[in-house]
Amino acid sequence: MALSPTTSDTTGPSPASGSARPRVRFPAGFLWGASTSSYQIEGGADEDGRTPSIWDTFSHTPGRTERGETGDVACDHYHRYRDDVALMSELGLGAYRFSVSWSRVQPTGRGPAAQRGLDFYRSLADELLGAGITPVLTLYHWDLPQELEDAGGWPERDTALRFADYAGLVADALGDRVKMWTTLNEPWCSAFLGYGSGVHAPGRTEPLAALRAAHHLNLAHGLASTALREALPSDAQLSVSLNPAAVRPRSDSPADRDAARRIDALATRIFTGPMLHGAYDEDLLADTAGITDWSFVRDGDVACAHQPLDGICVNYYTPSVVSAVAGEREAERRDGHGASDHSPWPGADRVAFHQPPGVTTEMGWSVDPGGLTELLLRFHQEAPGVPLYITENGAACADEPDGEGRVHDPERIAYVRSHLAAVHRAMEGGADVRGYFLWSLLDNFEWSYGYSKRFGIVHVDFASQRRTPKSSAHWYADVARTGELAES
Ligand code: FCB
Repeated sequence: MALSPTTSDTTGPSPASGSARPRVRFPAGFLWGASTSSYQIEGGADEDGRTPSIWDTFSHTPGRTERGETGDVACDHYHRYRDDVALMSELGLGAYRFSVSWSRVQPTGRGPAAQRGLDFYRSLADELLGAGITPVLTLYHWDLPQELEDAGGWPERDTALRFADYAGLVADALGDRVKMWTTLNEPWCSAFLGYGSGVHAPGRTEPLAALRAAHHLNLAHGLASTALREALPSDAQLSVSLNPAAVRPRSDSPADRDAARRIDALATRIFTGPMLHGAYDEDLLADTAGITDWSFVRDGDVACAHQPLDGICVNYYTPSVVSAVAGEREAERRDGHGASDHSPWPGADRVAFHQPPGVTTEMGWSVDPGGLTELLLRFHQEAPGVPLYITENGAACADEPDGEGRVHDPERIAYVRSHLAAVHRAMEGGADVRGYFLWSLLDNFEWSYGYSKRFGIVHVDFASQRRTPKSSAHWYADVARTGELAES
């Protein structure tokens, strides 16, 4: 992969602007991409030997997703990937981040690979490479094979061992084509939405299981990284995608600041502690002492999770504003991904979440680009020398075609523009950011929201599978082509 030059040349008067006002310009070699994930777009749910993942089971369980929608067909990308790559090529994208469906390439979550499943990803990678688009592969975007959940899922240590085997198997099959590898997508969601609030698959609401899952995801990252290093050529780049919280106390009171500290520990440091520093922070262990003594952590586990990384990937949408709950009042439940009576924050029961004032997207998430600058600068300080990527950022909007079939989404353009400016500010502050991946290429299955939330820069009519690039796609193509945030 071409490396970016230093950030000192990221700004400067545009020769074309004719004005002295500097335009926001990104360095040559900056990766401009878009993201998707397997269950959200592929469909082909029971084809070529694929077996159910926890998301197949969950979405087919009444009451779990809006209107009972599932990913059975989704964007039918399993059959339309060539057209989708052609679309990316027309938009001039430099990179494409996708995930592999574990139960498509290793149907029971253990044992031999399913060649037809691997062939799909080999063909996808070939198609991308043929179009000059860098494939960026995520091994796990939440779709655990159901058989592994039946054996206990992420709360069980064995799942981490199975993940390492799976990583090795995918690396053997795709290591000649794919250079950029990400182990996990947003392990916070896997652990705390999957086993805490239960709004995500497998829908369990067990605080102890959520903490055990978080640890085994850390271990899985470490074991898989080792397996990948063994199987991949030496120029392969390994990373992990996290969704760190940009968390703010509602007031400067010690109680509210302590609430923010607790959420930071549970959202971010529970993963960055082991992965970046080789230890769980003492305050996290103390906050959760009423739930567990963490005796499931074995000697060597955190050292194993602490692997050299070639990139840290940040997914960012919105910040969190929190306060301490006074007296006996119940804490407000909020996780940004759906309603539940159960908390996704074990050990932080007396923390309330507040909606910040100002503009929100269709998800109800407040628009606050400053949180992204903050997080990038934090990782720059915490992991000096490790390149940073934004692997998800984007907005859900109420997009529908107009009378002429065009889809105008100025709110999304405004959202992405302001966040790209925020990325640029972090780069000016020294953060070594190498790429940005917009969530998402296509409207898709938005988990418990079904198809009701549209995040794509390409509109999908799910009845006909017709794709229509929105105005944001044309705007983003221009950014990717010029490396500049042009005035609109
Ligand atoms: C992230 C997920 C992604 C998508 C966006 C909106 O948390 O990784 O799959 O659902 O949110």
